[in-house]
Amino acid sequence: MNAPRQTLVVLFGGQSAEHDVSRVTASHVIRAADPSRYDIIAVGIDRDGSWKVSPAHEWRGEGGRDTGESLSVGGAEVEPSAVLRSHAGAVVMPLLHGPLGEDGTVQGLLELLDMPYVGSGVLASAVAMDKGVAKRLFAEAGLPQARSVTMHHDECSPRNLLVLWDDHATDLFVKPANMGSSVGVSRVSSPEELAVAVEAAARYDNWIVIEEAVRGREIEVAVLGNRNPRASLPGEITPSKDFYDYEDKYVDDAATLTVPARLTEAQTEEVRRLAVHAYGLLRCEGMARVDFFLEEDGRGFLINEINTIPGFTPISMYPKMWEASGLSYPALIDELVRLALERHTARRRSTDR
Ligand SMILES: Nc1ncnc2c1ncn2[C@@H]1O[C@H](COP(=O)(O)OP(=O)(O)O)[C@@H](O)[C@H]1O
Ligand SMILES: [Mg+2]
Repeated sequence: MNAPRQTLVVLFGGQSAEHDVSRVTASHVIRAADPSRYDIIAVGIDRDGSWKVSPAHEWRGEGGRDTGESLSVGGAEVEPSAVLRSHAGAVVMPLLHGPLGEDGTVQGLLELLDMPYVGSGVLASAVAMDKGVAKRLFAEAGLPQARSVTMHHDECSPRNLLVLWDDHATDLFVKPANMGSSVGVSRVSSPEELAVAVEAAARYDNWIVIEEAVRGREIEVAVLGNRNPRASLPGEITPSKDFYDYEDKYVDDAATLTVPARLTEAQTEEVRRLAVHAYGLLRCEGMARVDFFLEEDGRGFLINEINTIPGFTPISMYPKMWEASGLSYPALIDELVRLALERHTARRRSTDR
């Protein structure tokens, strides 16, 4: 039986520091989406925020062009809501990482236009993007996590930082509350470094998270679904150096990904349960990757963060964990599209309009 054809609008690029990562993801998703089912429209968002429709021959690699590993943003500039509206019936895949893409802003535009889209809605996207707010919700639900404080940049006086420093026993991690891909993240082991790290984080967000460095393994779980989400088998990241930084993630490709993670059956079940709990807590929909530290001989699993638009190349953790759990990359795309349509229909029924 032939399923009806579905138009997919793939949104990629974006204005965040994770622009390049998104271009790599988009090129893979477009190549993997079943051509007998999907008509693809690739819409790139340039670093300056302008929207451009990529001519099909560019992303298909026709005419001797090789799209390679990364789709470039090019083509005629368009007005965002006009181009989206011109594809009535399409499902939108926002493959945008970081602020102004993963944080609920683009999702808000899609809500206004009443279009189905892949992944979390406005609230979950915004809350998961803000590490400080997400931590407060995790704490309220009793989810175990590292000790942290979230401060506005204007509260980070040398004196306050010194008090903070004197108050703890380990190295600290400093991060912009709203960012991803380890951009602006530093590990510090002296008060002088702390002040420098705060300034580095403040380049990306006025809100800054300062937390204890955890000595533990990094375990991640892929979650998929709307009202009854399921969790994949967990995976493990072993950074090649001090911590899993931007270079390790995207440049050197040196970190080791182990899927499934070597855990006991009880640990596997526990981390999957925690992942689904956290996912529901932030009201995630569609997909998210939930990241943990495992402090062995200590507090056990500590939740670190939720990524509502995780890295999505075939060698990224999210698809790899589903592959190991029996769901192939193309089947995962089909499932995400189905979930987007399901959510859209359910929301229409539940909102009086
Ligand atoms: N509290 C912490 N203890 C130990 N390592 C950490 C801590 N916070 C972050 N890291 C390291 O830094 C990396 C990036 O930090 P993370 O909070 O995941 O931010 P991002 O959203 O940029 O991925 C993590 O994958 C981990 O290697
Ligand atoms: Mg992370």
